[in-house]
Amino acid sequence: SLTTVHTVADLRATVANWRAEGLRVALVPTMGALHDGHISLTHLAREHADRVIVSIFVNPTQFAPNEDFGAYPRTLPADQKLLDDAGVELCFTPSVEEMYPDGFATKVSVDGAMTNVLCGAARPGHFDGVAQVVTKLLLQALPDCAIFGQKDYQQLMVIRRFSMDLNIPVEIIGAKILREDDGLAMSSRNRYLTPDERAIAPTLNKVLGDITAKAANGAELGPLLAKGREDILAAGFDPIDYLEVRDADTLELISDTVTKPARIFVAARLGKARLIDNHAIEPA
Ligand code: PAJ
Repeated sequence: SLTTVHTVADLRATVANWRAEGLRVALVPTMGALHDGHISLTHLAREHADRVIVSIFVNPTQFAPNEDFGAYPRTLPADQKLLDDAGVELCFTPSVEEMYPDGFATKVSVDGAMTNVLCGAARPGHFDGVAQVVTKLLLQALPDCAIFGQKDYQQLMVIRRFSMDLNIPVEIIGAKILREDDGLAMSSRNRYLTPDERAIAPTLNKVLGDITAKAANGAELGPLLAKGREDILAAGFDPIDYLEVRDADTLELISDTVTKPARIFVAARLGKARLIDNHAIEPA
């Protein structure tokens, strides 16, 4: 059954016991407000390890001052129930003081083409905060592997980059996007949607799917993206932060036609929620 710890010392003591038994350990970092998308990551973790840790920490350093850090849903008892039902062994939920004690002074930042685009352009400093906290979580738990969702595809690429660059000895594993029956990508922020907005929200996935099918067959991206923007705005999203096709590995912009594995990315605001989604485009 699930054990919950709040300190790095207790986390490390538990992991040390498992290591002494020769067990493999997986870490699934989250900010809580757990949904089936998170739980699917724990199932993938289970395929790779004997013991699964889920961290729950709403990381202040990845939110800008105007963002929803204060309002971000915190639902620990419900989260613990979901993790227990999923068979997760350990929940690590540190306080802000445990993660960033007085005198904390270290930044981790990934530069270049990968962090200045998409969510990095729309949310300056966001990926520095993600890199900082994920570096800490990986070094605190030192698992064999850590699981991250393709829902946050750019985040996954950034994490792969710094963990390679910093020689962090943890295998980074990507997991596919879990969706509601109507195609909406599951997200903790879907809780911000009113019923009317919730009915509109699947438009994002639908537009991405339409463009993906045509782009994979070699259609010109310009007119497809223009039409996609129109459809997203007409549905009630405003503004669109981005709707772009990029190289699946380097995240370089693709503006003509897709001839190599690519990815289409969208971020748009709907009421109080900023929703993101992406699809793989595999050229035919
Ligand atoms: P959070 O938004 O809670 O997401 C935790 C993990 O769940 C991420 O790897 C995310 O990609 C994955 N995830 C979320 N919704 C998903 C879905 N519908 N299908 C599959 N995976 C999904 O991402 C963060 O937290 C934070 O930035 C974190 C990495 C924990 C650092 O603070």
